[in-house]
Amino acid sequence: MSDLDQLRVELGARGYPILIGTGLLDEADRHLAPRLARPRAFIVTDDHVAAAGHAARLERALARAGVATATLVLPPGEATKDFHHLRQLLERLLDHRPERADTVVALGGGVVGDLAGLAAALLLRGVPLVQVPTTLLAQVDSAVGGKTGIDTRHGKNLVGAFKQPALVLVDLTTLDTLPPRELRAGLAEVVKYGCIRDAAFFDWLEAEGVGVLAGRRAAQRHAVRRSLEIKAAIVARDERETGGERALLNFGHTFAHAFEALAGYDGRLLHGEAVACGMVLAARLSAHLGHAPATAAERLTALLTALGLPTSVHELGLEPAPERVLAAMRHDKKVRGGRLHFVLWRGPGTAFLADDVPEEAVRDVLAAG
Ligand code: NAD
Ligand code: GLY
Repeated sequence: MSDLDQLRVELGARGYPILIGTGLLDEADRHLAPRLARPRAFIVTDDHVAAAGHAARLERALARAGVATATLVLPPGEATKDFHHLRQLLERLLDHRPERADTVVALGGGVVGDLAGLAAALLLRGVPLVQVPTTLLAQVDSAVGGKTGIDTRHGKNLVGAFKQPALVLVDLTTLDTLPPRELRAGLAEVVKYGCIRDAAFFDWLEAEGVGVLAGRRAAQRHAVRRSLEIKAAIVARDERETGGERALLNFGHTFAHAFEALAGYDGRLLHGEAVACGMVLAARLSAHLGHAPATAAERLTALLTALGLPTSVHELGLEPAPERVLAAMRHDKKVRGGRLHFVLWRGPGTAFLADDVPEEAVRDVLAAG
């Protein structure tokens, strides 16, 4: 039996456990099957995850516990998170004549998690969902917290639902088959937690972050566990992002979402890469506005560079005029009452929300590169 870390998202009757360990897919008969309302599960995954053997591992373990499964495989990539694939997935699920107590298991990265999560919210007006994240990004962020959604021509994640899972199962061995670039991109979201909430975790990442990339299991486990402790606590206090606290998870994201929109979601720019660069710009904006010393932004830049992540718009392969970035920002969900919202910081561990950032300051920071 694998050594198991257990966390919980405290949301009253809708609260749920997060299990972190190695080999949990092969032990799904013990960890997942007993939590199903009915011994039937639809495993939604994508071609890469299935080809890496992870769907078969889950199927085998669930079969041992007498759970009937059907596996639905989607094409990989952000383009799958659209109306067309949502409809297709729902129709394919309905072909299996599902019942309300059947469970949708999202086995994959954030794309599968967001799409299958939304399908679970819509199918028969809502069936149970289990998240089994297989990318570092999904393990530390998207599988927990209940945000699901798809992209439209108006932008990313603009159609969706809050759908909390009944269980999140994090098997660290899935990271072994993840392409190194995807692992690095996920690490950007790990750095984000150090930036917003935990200076000691930021220090730890400076010392040990490369170990996550090198495949050191203890480092991976600590990175995932500490990130999820922070996320679970924030989600428990501000589930629907109405209290201002959950919005802190968007550190760097006002910039990042604009870069992703300008890149056209064609797969060349990864979300975590856009976030890495976005965090550096948020840190520089904080310094420009007098909230943080410039050395804090330099420290963040040094950490991300050491982890092989991009820290400038140029490194993202984009050369947009600041005005185009600002125009893309105005289309994002973070616009409220016509004003741009930014998450700024005072240095590692101390992020805060600002809705009074002058566009001129954003222009200056973008123009400076
Ligand atoms: P992804 O799901 O596209 O996965 C990245 C790539 O890795 C894909 O090609 C996938 O097929 C492959 N892959 C996944 N697991 C693998 C494994 N174990 N071995 C080999 N290949 C594997 O991308 P992602 O970075 O996981 O997620 C990005 C998405 O997550 C975006 O759509 C973003 O909007 C969303 N997101 C959602 C939230 C949320 O709170 N819901 C938070 C952050 C990001
Ligand atoms: N990834 C941001 C959130 O879950 O709120």
